[in-house]
Amino acid sequence: MKNYLNNSIKIIGMVAIISLFSCKEENGLAPEYMPDMYRSPSIETYVDYGELRGKQGDDSLRNTLTARKPVEGTIHRGFTPYPYENSIEGYNQAGEFLKSPFDYTEQSVAKGKELYGMFCVHCHGGAGQGDGSLVEREVFPPLPIKFTESLELPEGKMFHTITFGKGLMGSHASQLTQEERWQLIHYIRVGFMKKPLTADMGQTAVSADTNAVVQ
Ligand code: HEC
Repeated sequence: MKNYLNNSIKIIGMVAIISLFSCKEENGLAPEYMPDMYRSPSIETYVDYGELRGKQGDDSLRNTLTARKPVEGTIHRGFTPYPYENSIEGYNQAGEFLKSPFDYTEQSVAKGKELYGMFCVHCHGGAGQGDGSLVEREVFPPLPIKFTESLELPEGKMFHTITFGKGLMGSHASQLTQEERWQLIHYIRVGFMKKPLTADMGQTAVSADTNAVVQ
């Protein structure tokens, strides 16, 4: 019985070793078990389709993106282009012409307050005095701006800054929709700059030269 067991172990061991080192294909690769698991036949976003399942395919497809760029001059549904350039002139134009396309409401201010606590408070501070936790811990220099009643800053400039960034403040356009950026401005203006919550503060914005409606 013992002998029989010993022999079986030897045989199993040999089979394991042989299966590990045998059956190589010409190019040195072992055959794959269920290759579809590794190389899905369905279209995948970042796969180079010049090379399909390990084989060189159509050269004209090499290194081409599966996810195509949008056709030039088109915009995706629901997106509104921002007509002011990322420059001093653009900043000044936005200050002059860009107004909140959304009405100031208690809800918009409340939503802005919520977003402020997530995206801005660590720099601008809970009371908007530029003394957030990063500044307190001295990992960020004191902010040159305080949101106070006496601050003269048009909402268009604020939107421009949140969109493109300014000085040490980075752009927040990728994290916040346009509506969310306006909600933040509503909160800063009503909460810290003590502007009255009047419905007529929100107006349709018109750009300097194109008359394009920004919403
Ligand atoms: C990493 C720190 C930091 C964060 C986070 C940050 N800011 Fe700022 N912010 C700054 C600094 C620094 C300035 C001053 C920029 C300057 O004038 O050089 C500034 C300036 C501003 C201004 C004045 C813009 C102007 O035109 O002068 C507004 C408005 C503002 N921030 C809003 C926000 C809002 C809203 C958020 C959250 C979405 C935010 N900031 C997040 C650092 C920050």
